[in-house]
Amino acid sequence: MALRPIKNCFDPVLRKQCEIVKNIDGELITLSDDMIETTLAAPGVGLAANQIGIPKRIFVVNMGVDTDKDNLVTLINPEITAMEGSELGEEGCLSIPDVVAEVKRATQVEIKAVDLNGKDVRYEASGFLARALQHEMDHLNGILFWDSLGKIKRDILKRKFKKKLKEQDE
Ligand code: NI
Repeated sequence: MALRPIKNCFDPVLRKQCEIVKNIDGELITLSDDMIETTLAAPGVGLAANQIGIPKRIFVVNMGVDTDKDNLVTLINPEITAMEGSELGEEGCLSIPDVVAEVKRATQVEIKAVDLNGKDVRYEASGFLARALQHEMDHLNGILFWDSLGKIKRDILKRKFKKKLKEQDE
């Protein structure tokens, strides 16, 4: 397993419509292991493959986020099959470190995907896990959490993040 560098939100790979995974091979399993290690180290709740530069439809998420036990699960070719409710909640992203905003999300989701053994899996989630699943799902479609905010709010957050990047360079 290895840690992979996380791309920031200005990298074009974060805007990619990610490709369907056709083969679950050794390379994909290594990718999944590395994504889990990278998420735990960040630390983060989830990570999509394009955040480490691989535009494929795979993400990892900590299914234990609402509990006190980590449970990182890899979802391949995920699809949200049902959504219910709506609530505002604070959200951040490993590709936009230290920037948070209130984002409107469904309160409950149902998601289907394929696991690393090629088996169909289905999860129902609510609370912060439901939010995380919607957030990671968006990554696979090239969407960032601030896209749903108004332009003014988004520009303020972008400026804040650019300033932070500049400070790091100095
Ligand atoms: Ni993110």
